[in-house]
Amino acid sequence: MYKNPEIAESLKKVEATRQARFEARDTIKRMTADEKDAILRAYHPDYKEENFENLIVGVNKGDKVPHELAAYLQAHSRIKGKNIDLENPKYDVDVLVIGGGGAGSSAAIEAHNAGANVMMVTKLRIGDANSMMAEGGIQAADKPNDSPAQHYIDVMGGGHFANRPELVAKLVSDAPEAIQWLNHLGVEFDKTEDGTMVTTHGGGTSRKRMHACKDYSGAEIMRTLRDEVLNREIPVVEFTAAIELIKDDEGKIAGAVLLNMETEEIMVARAKCVVIATGGAGRMHYQNFPTSNHYGATADGLVLGYRAGAKLLYADTLQYHPTGAAFPEQILGALVTEKVRSLGAQLVNKDGVAYIHPLETRDVNASGIIRECSDRGNGVPTGTGKAVWLDTPMIEMIGGEGTILKRIPAMYRMFAKYGIDIRKEPILVYPTLHYQNGGLEITPDGMTGIKNLFVAGEAVGGIHGRNRLMGNSLLDIIVFGRNAGKESGKAFKSVKLGKLTLDHVDKFEAELDKAGVKTELRSPKLLPNYTTRKDI
Ligand code: FUM
Repeated sequence: MYKNPEIAESLKKVEATRQARFEARDTIKRMTADEKDAILRAYHPDYKEENFENLIVGVNKGDKVPHELAAYLQAHSRIKGKNIDLENPKYDVDVLVIGGGGAGSSAAIEAHNAGANVMMVTKLRIGDANSMMAEGGIQAADKPNDSPAQHYIDVMGGGHFANRPELVAKLVSDAPEAIQWLNHLGVEFDKTEDGTMVTTHGGGTSRKRMHACKDYSGAEIMRTLRDEVLNREIPVVEFTAAIELIKDDEGKIAGAVLLNMETEEIMVARAKCVVIATGGAGRMHYQNFPTSNHYGATADGLVLGYRAGAKLLYADTLQYHPTGAAFPEQILGALVTEKVRSLGAQLVNKDGVAYIHPLETRDVNASGIIRECSDRGNGVPTGTGKAVWLDTPMIEMIGGEGTILKRIPAMYRMFAKYGIDIRKEPILVYPTLHYQNGGLEITPDGMTGIKNLFVAGEAVGGIHGRNRLMGNSLLDIIVFGRNAGKESGKAFKSVKLGKLTLDHVDKFEAELDKAGVKTELRSPKLLPNYTTRKDI
């Protein structure tokens, strides 16, 4: 498959050095804190100041965010100039969940348990979400040699101690129960014959606490959650986006303006509580990176919350997963799970040198690849850019023949389609935009500064600090999704809504005007546009 002469030449070196690298695999040194700091500052995209700007409008005025996000946070409302009839809502519910992924589904299930009349709206279909695409696993400290305290230290260290401690404490304390909840709902976790859950390491973990469903953990979890939502007959309004939040005349949340993506009908949903669970932002393609994210990951929840006055936290920090597929071009940016490295595959440069420990944290490994492919000149040309090798045949040398088909069958299939047998040949990888570390600020009950507006999942900022560890996202969608569901399921009971209003939208428009923002953009962005055609 690797016919290009430069790739083929490099491949020979990878093969020639494999046995020696295998024998010396336990001697690869971890970086010191100072070395990590230096490599991040020099190579991580979050440190490229020219790709950021300070907001000039809204509650985070003065804060730094990527240019692409600033443009949508400071754009016009999609309902500007439209007359919205707030008096006659099409839907009237206790809890409105915006988003059809793992966090939204968990929230809907728990709000339903609490007796709420709950409804989910999602701009695509339930399950069209980053949750569905998660591969490697979900962390929880539930083994005798582990504890939530150890998990806490790992999460804080991985996040460069910028994490909100109270959110991390909740994440790790509720993790073992989250696994049990999923297990009881029917998630088919990897287990040994006696029923013990199989756990592995991820980058930056001090204990093996990654629970997985082979390498399609997110799909299996999402399948189960979706079944639960549908079995409970919770209404799910698909192909319907939330385009603005509604408040009441006391400033409490009171619902959302919805857009039918097919008919373009605009509707009003009145709700006593709202949960934003809209997920990530990979389709914003920050700094022109490809992405591992699903089609609807456009930071829309951040825009909705921001325009209503909810604060953002760490919106300047993104996660570039070190191992996005870099070849062939058809799968550019697709996720190559970290589990590949946790099973033993090394990162190797064009000369066959394992230049870094494969389980450094993601930000460090992404920076390491960028350094090999730029200043060091050690990247392999792929036709679309440069890349390094991920030496997958080492997995079978370490774990024995059959390990790849047993533990990472989806990875095998993804490359086999293009004639690459990852049991025998390494693959080419480069960082891909994977996760939004920042998002809307919440307190441990999941609420923003706006009364009864909750957030869960990737749209939350602060849980993971400035860098998330593998497997803590599937965990946070369950822990904070359920939490938002339980809390909104309590809160709605005492809510008395006043008169519905969109005054905050007019106020925001006035602020744009006053700040001299000149833009044609309307936000939130709902789907990416990969065409220059004007008629669609
Ligand atoms: O590499 C992965 O499997 C991704 C996992 C995650 O982002 O948690």
